[in-house]
Amino acid sequence: MKLTLQQQQRVDALLQQMTLEEKIGQMNQLSPSLVGGFDMSFEEMIEMAMDGRITQEELSEMFSKAERDYREDDIRKGLIGSVMLQDPDKYNELQRIAVEESRMGIPLIIGLDVIHGFRSVYPIALAEAGAFDPDLFQRTARMAAKESRTQGISWHFAPMIDVGRDSRWGRVSEGPGEDPYLASRFAEAKIHGLQDGAYEDAADGTERRENYVAACMKHYVAYGAAESGRDYNTTSMSISQLHNVYLPPFKAATEAGAATAMASFNDLNGVPCTVNTYTLRRTLKERYGLQGFVVSDANAIRECIDHGIAADRYDAARQAANAGMDMDMGTSIYVEELKNAVERGDVSMEVIDEAARRILSVKMWLDLFDHPYITDEAKHRYDKLPKGHVDLTLEAAQKSIVLLKNDDHVLPLKKEQKISLVGSLAANPTEIIGAWAMSWKSEDCVSILDGLKNTGAAVEYFPCGGPAEEINEEEIAQAAAYGDVIVAVVGEYSAMSGEASSRADTTLPGKQRELLAKLLATGKPVVTLLMNGRALALGWEAEHLPTIVEGWQLGIQMGNAVASVLFGDYNPTGKLAASFPYVTGQLPLYYNHPSTGRPGGKFKFTSKYIDAPFEPVFPFGYGLSYTTFAYCDLTVKETEDALVACVKVKNTGEVCGTETVQLYMQDVTASLVRPVKELKGFAKVTLAAGEEKEVVIELKKADMGFYNNDGVYVREDGKFRIFVGGSSADTLMQELDLAF
Ligand code: NOJ
Repeated sequence: MKLTLQQQQRVDALLQQMTLEEKIGQMNQLSPSLVGGFDMSFEEMIEMAMDGRITQEELSEMFSKAERDYREDDIRKGLIGSVMLQDPDKYNELQRIAVEESRMGIPLIIGLDVIHGFRSVYPIALAEAGAFDPDLFQRTARMAAKESRTQGISWHFAPMIDVGRDSRWGRVSEGPGEDPYLASRFAEAKIHGLQDGAYEDAADGTERRENYVAACMKHYVAYGAAESGRDYNTTSMSISQLHNVYLPPFKAATEAGAATAMASFNDLNGVPCTVNTYTLRRTLKERYGLQGFVVSDANAIRECIDHGIAADRYDAARQAANAGMDMDMGTSIYVEELKNAVERGDVSMEVIDEAARRILSVKMWLDLFDHPYITDEAKHRYDKLPKGHVDLTLEAAQKSIVLLKNDDHVLPLKKEQKISLVGSLAANPTEIIGAWAMSWKSEDCVSILDGLKNTGAAVEYFPCGGPAEEINEEEIAQAAAYGDVIVAVVGEYSAMSGEASSRADTTLPGKQRELLAKLLATGKPVVTLLMNGRALALGWEAEHLPTIVEGWQLGIQMGNAVASVLFGDYNPTGKLAASFPYVTGQLPLYYNHPSTGRPGGKFKFTSKYIDAPFEPVFPFGYGLSYTTFAYCDLTVKETEDALVACVKVKNTGEVCGTETVQLYMQDVTASLVRPVKELKGFAKVTLAAGEEKEVVIELKKADMGFYNNDGVYVREDGKFRIFVGGSSADTLMQELDLAF
């Protein structure tokens, strides 16, 4: 986010004229409360959606129709700087009050959770990250920015860039997986996609301001390390781990220009991230140089009382403001307490000025002062989804699918084969969406059943069972009688991942394993398609099922994307952004584990389990294709400032395919224990059947260091290993001695 000199001067001029109350007003975000319209509480409604009494879509509709309190009078008084809202007419109405009826005429900034698409919902982040495709990450983000801006939403509470290594935590679905390097590439690409429209003319003739939004990287920080995978739980780690694993995506996003950040709910080493001076002020603002502002998570400032770190609302507001928290989400605690705190000398005027300046700067950069309203044309621009948007959601979905097993070469299916489609998820048009999407329309959604039918294939649907359903033996018999092949869609309902959806058991929920066993027992070939929002524990499935496709929750085009992969019209290229365990008890599980003194091996007294493997069933970076790739001749040359790895990759199969070549490094001897492998680069190569190419990946020496426990980045001379291959577990290796 870069302001022109003139924009900065306008912000300065405004600040000079504002009262203390008006400045604090800017620091207040309203989450409009529901007033009437329901006979039940918010919690009850969510429960009904969770246990299937109402669908997700019905829940969204109930919400959108509910009456809300927008506190128009407070907007008029300049006591609200931001609103969470998804209603273009209401947007113009509230904006008019702010701009034309408040003393300073400062526009509101409207924020919303646009995590993996607005109307055009694309794959959940955990799936999209597995495409290993920064260009794709950018393009999907840009599409979401353009769509939401037409509805007045110019601030996305995204990207979610928490590294997640424990798939019990339901929010792993929203983020880019277990690896800090991949998460950092994802983070910066998303920032460029959301924000860089500010500096480019759009090819489609739309105004510049309609092509970008302010990003809000979240959840800052270490939320993904929640102990035992339980949401909102405590986190505790060394400074080196914080800087090496959890901070890098936030650093990369800030360097890419991220306008804002959202602090996370968790405490970190005893200090809630909402009031954490080290992470907010010292690191994000002073060290990384965040230009815009920090917002709390919902109610999080007030929750510092529940954390037992603040005595009361006043104390919570004081601590948060002083730590560098610029905006309060949803509690009004700042407007109620901060004036008093300034007058008593508990919060300085500089703190308030800084927060107000940061917030006004983002609004100025978004061009909200000169163009606060949305036009009717914009509002209806995407009433019918443009073909380009549909195509991009399809492309993203295809690139995110991971082929896990294809032992008997049942895939790709032949067009003349009759398909029995099984599983309650298969015909459901809304479960393809995943958690945290709120602006999609059911008319755009293509279920697996619809996608298969769209190909003209002979397909019949037999529910047979599902994540929460009983097994229906009769339907199993019918499925076996009809199809040449059974495609079984199993997994999780959307509500089983995402916020507040941690699971203590990460196997397939309900009776789905039993269902799969019964389908196998019919003797018909079974293709298992997984639809889920986390890395599941798949030990049993990997052992018993010959054909497994990881389909995640891929957004509105999921059905078409899956069909194109099952029939071989699209040759899968996706890789896993998270390691899959055999059993839940292996969690947290990640490939880049620090070296132990007794690495797991054949002998008893090594780091392993007596009742489960220590390695993953499917590792990070893994994913098959309908062809095969062979790697040879790895050479690593040293230049003045880099290592250059060259490897030959050959397509040894019968069809054209694309491989993601991955480069890992190990710092073999260092002053701190280092990971057994760390991803440091990747490249894509497309090869015709039989073709061989040399792939070159460069690793800058500057990136070969690590953070020590003072938070200082160091590079140490000595022995390094460079690994190159098609997954974190299958690589060629070369060793070198380096003196930096
Ligand atoms: C709580 C969630 O943790 C956060 O991700 C989200 O952006 C806010 N609520 C606002 O909806």
